Formats: sequence, C-alpha cells, structure tokens
Amino acid sequence: RFDEVPTPPGQLRWDPLPLPAEPTDFLDGLVTFAGSGGPAAQSGAAVHLYAANRSMQDRFLYDADGELLLVPQLGRLRVATELGTLALGPGEIAVVPRGIRFRVELPDGEARGYVGENFGAPFRLPDLGPIGANGLANPRDFLAPCARFEDREGRFELVAMFMGQRWRAELDHSPLDVVAWHGNYAPYQYDLSRFMAVNTVSFDHADPSIFTVLTSPSEVRGLANVDFVIFPPRWLVAEHTFRPPWFHRNVMSEYMGLVRGAYDAKAEGFVPGGGSLHNCMSGHGPDAATFEQATRDPLAPRRLDDGLAFMLESRWVWRPTRAALASPLLQRDYAACWRGLEKRFTGAP
Ligand code: FE2
Repeated sequence: RFDEVPTPPGQLRWDPLPLPAEPTDFLDGLVTFAGSGGPAAQSGAAVHLYAANRSMQDRFLYDADGELLLVPQLGRLRVATELGTLALGPGEIAVVPRGIRFRVELPDGEARGYVGENFGAPFRLPDLGPIGANGLANPRDFLAPCARFEDREGRFELVAMFMGQRWRAELDHSPLDVVAWHGNYAPYQYDLSRFMAVNTVSFDHADPSIFTVLTSPSEVRGLANVDFVIFPPRWLVAEHTFRPPWFHRNVMSEYMGLVRGAYDAKAEGFVPGGGSLHNCMSGHGPDAATFEQATRDPLAPRRLDDGLAFMLESRWVWRPTRAALASPLLQRDYAACWRGLEKRFTGAP
C-alpha cells in the first residue's frame, strides 16, 4: 500500500541498506521503499531494495502483480526460472515477467540491489524517433535463457505476490520442471555496458529520456508509466554549456539509484546502494560543490568513466512507504546539499 502515510513534496535521499547479520534470502531481504498505483489497476510501479546473504533454498517466487526488473548493485545473482537460468552481476539487469516462477541464488554469498516492480504495460524498447533504426539498447543484446529443468521431489514453498500480498503454498516437487519452451514471454537479461549512449556534440544538456533503456508506456504518449534510464560512462563534449544536469522541476517523478562510482550531479551523499527521490515539481539539480566545480572546469572533452547511475522515472508520484520515511537510512539533511549555492545576480542592468 502506498497511501498509508502522506507523501511529502520535498527531496528525499537514503543511505544503502546494510547487509543482513542474520541468514536472509532474496525474498526475506526485500524492502518496499516507494510506489504508485497497483495491480488492481495494472498501472504504476514500485521500488524495492534487497540485501541478502543466502540463496533461496527449496523456495520459489512468482509475481502476478507485475514484472520484476532486477538491478544488482553488489554481488552476482543466479536467477533460476521455469524457462532457464539468468546469471548477472552489477552493471547488468534482468527482467522476470509476471507469473514466471523463479529462485534467486547468490554465487558470492552476499548481494544487494534494487527491484523495480512494474504493474503497467510490459517494458519494451523505446521508439527511437529521429535516431533511426539502431542505437541506445539494441535488441540483439537482450539475452533469454536456454531451457533448463530440475526433476526434484520433496517439500518446497511457493510464494505468490498477488494483489499486493504474499501468499504461500507447499509443493511436493520443484516448479522448475519445464523441459522446453518457445515463444516470447520469457525472462531476459541485458548488460548495461552494451548501451549506446547518445548525447549532445554541440551545446546544452539533453533530456535524460535520451538514456532510456526500457520503457513501460502509459496511455498518454510522452508520459511513461515508468522508464528505466541509465547514466553510463560516456564522453562530455558540450561547449558553452553548464554540463551537469541543470536545476529543474518537472512533472515526472524520479527515483534514482547508484550501482557504482559517482553521479555527475552530486559530489557526496549519493552513494552506491543508496537512493534519491525527486517527486513531481520538486526542484532539484547539482549540489553546491558540483556547481562550483562545473562552472570552473575548462570545457575540454571529458570522460565520465567511474559511475553507473539509473533512474526509474514515472508519470505517477512515487509514494514512499511508512517504512522508508521512518527509516534511519533517510538522510534528514539532504536539502542542505544546495544550501551553499550563492546568489549570483550582479545588479540591475
Ligand atoms: Fe530531474
């Protein structure tokens, strides 16, 4: 439920989830941070974070409410599904469609990351418009698993996410017993380093929609139910331009996460595994330290090569859960990052 507590209009930011001290699998380690809409209307999305330290054992999951976008930040995931196995790590993503049964194993013992649960239209590639036939994320780079099955009998638990609740059933066999499959309703994975970033080679800062990897459209063109957008390593070459993301407020609501490195609009405080939220019409932009740096740096070509940030951008306001707003991870002083910005008017013309 996303209506339990009033949604504050201000900017919010959280520290990363700590890794658990007790044995915790992917399902037990999921924490819901924010969301909108729900499965009844098949619209909106949710943001969950996970921190886990053991594989799901004799336990499986399916989500009837939405497809699941997995964004690992720490540790690899081995996602054993009915249709085969996905293997991914930080810098890669996976999408498990509604209803597909799966188990998450942790080859590195520990794992942390983000989950986007999409209640709306399935993710697809964005229309490329004037870019033409190729660019951004290319279809050839999305990998579906080869069929793989296990023939195991015993006591197994199947957890269903259905209408916002978790339900459980006992099975006497593993549900990963699909011997072969064909079709296109399949889980898939994608290496974000395969994304061909397109950006300005003249001046000005392009809208972040140019970095859309996958989109879940809504019925209003240009207002996505949710977009998955990345800020990957790339060259900055714009001239006569303030290069970082500028100060703005806008109708779309933006949840951001960081897989590694740093993001080019924040000097500190936005760290890998953490998150920030700038909802509809909440002003945001670079912090004071980044502004100072960007106004002094020579505008020579510069490579941003140490960061991988992402955004889940939605036409619907992300409503933080009670747990997210009460969490000790919430940075109570986030807005102070803009306090050092000085008035720069020089007087009447
Ligand atoms: Fe923004």
